[in-house]
Amino acid sequence: MAKILIADSIAKEGIDLLSRQHEVVVKTGLSEDALVEAVADVQALVVRSQTQVTARIIEAGQHLEVIARAGVGVDNVDVEAATARGVVVVNAPLANTISTAEHAFGLMLAVARNIPQGQSSLKAGKWERSKLQGVELAGKTLGVVGLGRIGAEVASRARAFQMRVIAFDPFVSMERASALGIEMKSLDEVFAEADFVTLHTTLTPETRGMISKERLAKARKGIRIINAARGALIDEQALYDAVESGHVAGAGIDVFSEEPAVGNILTTHDRIVVTPHLAASTNEAQDRAAVDVAEQVLDILEGRAPRFPVNVPTVNAESMAIIAPYIEAARVAGRVAMQLAQG
Ligand code: MLT
Repeated sequence: MAKILIADSIAKEGIDLLSRQHEVVVKTGLSEDALVEAVADVQALVVRSQTQVTARIIEAGQHLEVIARAGVGVDNVDVEAATARGVVVVNAPLANTISTAEHAFGLMLAVARNIPQGQSSLKAGKWERSKLQGVELAGKTLGVVGLGRIGAEVASRARAFQMRVIAFDPFVSMERASALGIEMKSLDEVFAEADFVTLHTTLTPETRGMISKERLAKARKGIRIINAARGALIDEQALYDAVESGHVAGAGIDVFSEEPAVGNILTTHDRIVVTPHLAASTNEAQDRAAVDVAEQVLDILEGRAPRFPVNVPTVNAESMAIIAPYIEAARVAGRVAMQLAQG
């Protein structure tokens, strides 16, 4: 029987699956020092996006075989340190596609129609119909940055709202894009032409800060920006300044450079709609993510290849045939990140 530490809240379905065969300890909100102590005797560590799994924690996990990220982004896990110690990192890349696409679309509607501002104003006893006049989505251009699974789902919803959709993603062919009814553009063209831009790319050293002061200055005046991907893709002060000056008409932000983001500058502007990293917080996505990672933790503890390994070199030769498509996907993702950063 192995010992498994769950360091962020995950759905009960996943915990139940693990508890049937192993000792499961759920301890959330631990500091780095507390985690260093807590991982000393565990074989598996399960996190969401809150816990930073640092090299120090991985080093302290002398018996650690697997780190499971119940979600997509692994930017909170030091994957290099895990790989160096032979610890497999797995994630749940399919679990929250629809939830995240729906949330990004919800933010876009909220920003276009000032829905949260209307609620706060009315609840404060005001009736401000002219001040809160918005814009329609129909007939507007949506720029999707990163046309992966989530970006493609947002694009299909935008088409149902009669929007023209353009996208930047160097690894999507023109043929596939036109089958989806989407025109492919350079990143500069997307920012120059779009009325709304929505970000759906991973955070890497290359994509960090890609929505910079310079890029915002070159954007179409009146653009609205949605981010339900990762906060650090955007220079937050530059976005605040661009909204304040009116060059950017508004923004819908679910993710922040540091979380919890209480007091973050983007939470202080009236024309920026904010939510506390809720995109994947649905019953459906959380159940799927918890089960997807729990199954993979069991796979690794029982010597089988996991479905979604992130650091493939740690997986043994026998498993390579099974995971070959994921190796290719990881390489493509790396190239996309580089291209995105180069704009
Ligand atoms: C993810 O990367 O899966 C999302 O940010 C969801 C989350 O873990 O909160």
